[in-house]
Amino acid sequence: MKVAVIGTGYVGLTTAVSLAMNGHQVIGIDLVEAKIVKLRQGISPIYEPGLEEALKQVLTNGALAFSTKLQDAGDADVFFVCVGTPEAEDGTADLRYVYSAVAAIKEIHQASPKSRVIVIKSTVPVGTGDKVAELLSGCQELSVASNPEFLREGNALFDALTPSRIVIGASEPKTREVMEELYKGVSAPRVVTTRANAELIKYASNAFLATRISFMNELSRLSAALGTDMVTIAHGMGLDSRIGPEFLRAGVGYGGSCFPKDTIALLQLAAQNGISLSILEQVRKVNATQPVWFLEQLQKFVPDCRGKRIAVLGLAFKPDTDDIREAPSLSILKALEEKGAAVFAYDPIAADTVRQKFPNVSYTNTADEAMQGAHAALLITEWKECVQLDWAKIYQSMAQPVLLDGRNAWPAELVKQAGFQYCGVGRS
Ligand SMILES: NC(=O)c1ccc[n+]([C@@H]2O[C@H](COP(=O)([O-])OP(=O)(O)OC[C@H]3O[C@@H](n4cnc5c(N)ncnc54)[C@H](O)[C@@H]3O)[C@@H](O)[C@H]2O)c1
Repeated sequence: MKVAVIGTGYVGLTTAVSLAMNGHQVIGIDLVEAKIVKLRQGISPIYEPGLEEALKQVLTNGALAFSTKLQDAGDADVFFVCVGTPEAEDGTADLRYVYSAVAAIKEIHQASPKSRVIVIKSTVPVGTGDKVAELLSGCQELSVASNPEFLREGNALFDALTPSRIVIGASEPKTREVMEELYKGVSAPRVVTTRANAELIKYASNAFLATRISFMNELSRLSAALGTDMVTIAHGMGLDSRIGPEFLRAGVGYGGSCFPKDTIALLQLAAQNGISLSILEQVRKVNATQPVWFLEQLQKFVPDCRGKRIAVLGLAFKPDTDDIREAPSLSILKALEEKGAAVFAYDPIAADTVRQKFPNVSYTNTADEAMQGAHAALLITEWKECVQLDWAKIYQSMAQPVLLDGRNAWPAELVKQAGFQYCGVGRS
């Protein structure tokens, strides 16, 4: 099929590449010319394992092209809307990019009508797809489907090619057929339902995952007080098939471009409908206070950070991505700077982006370098470059051998045996 993907960020670029790999003729559209220039040269503007290689392949075989002009996608049968839906000032999802993309598609369609489907992949509040359909009610042969995305940054291409499920929100049989055709050959359970159900599946999934994380994070505070071990507790819980092992790792809190904004947007949507989602409110509160709680643990080892060298390892909101949106590292860097610490930070990919926000932090080329002479080292993102370390060498190089493991990813027993003072999240 001929497909246009509007917005070539984390979701749009991955969608465009995976659709091209699956045999469709795809054009990616973005307003940002610099992105399109890079993409045409086979350079990915984002860091995502395997994506650039795959991009080069589909560019070379002619299955994918890029443009800044939507007119270049005039003959497309399907328009994917993959633009951002950031948090507005009042916490609701800001839909201006979605509506502007839809308006542009409408113009294209009116100029040369034919059977087309608009697929909303951006995460949008329940009712948005129906509103878009209403706006297009005068446009014959132009229908709207909701098709939320569940990819995980850091695994984006893999997830797009082998999704856990494909959720299709569309009422007309013809639109459903087009969606089936798009995903022909992709083996994954289908949930074919209304647009509103599809939209809520997305928000509910993210809210539930955030809930699991905050539950474990809050429990980790009790575990620390009791002297029990959250890693063992999570393992024991996760073996229960009703619970499962994923998203049980206590840490410094969730971040990223989705959970923070999607949880608040869901709360706002609920409030607009006179419903209070009190559990979700608590989830957000726990998440906001988890980095604070973590830094209180640091205080036990370094009571006064003024002038002390503190190493911060990992800045991206999770490993294998360059995305720093709402990353816990940002609030931790800010607090450390306020305490007067001399911060030395390392991240294999995201350092340059963080540097723009925190120019006074010293950025190192390796984790070892950040830890040299440090009075404490904090693990914030569990990149393998920050986890697989020569502990004997690091022990010698630190001013004070204090390790605060914000992801419970360092080998606790091994580092304790090596002489470090080790503090994990909710670990004895
Ligand atoms: N990032 C994720 O892991 C993820 C996962 C699932 C769902 N989502 C959802 O997918 C959507 C996109 O997220 P993202 O992280 O890819 O965003 P992003 O900010 O990385 O990318 C959005 C892109 O859209 C472009 N854009 C905006 N308006 C445009 C227009 N009118 N025409 C052409 N291009 C336009 C921007 O320039 C940008 O490149 C959001 O709704 C998000 O919540 C994101």
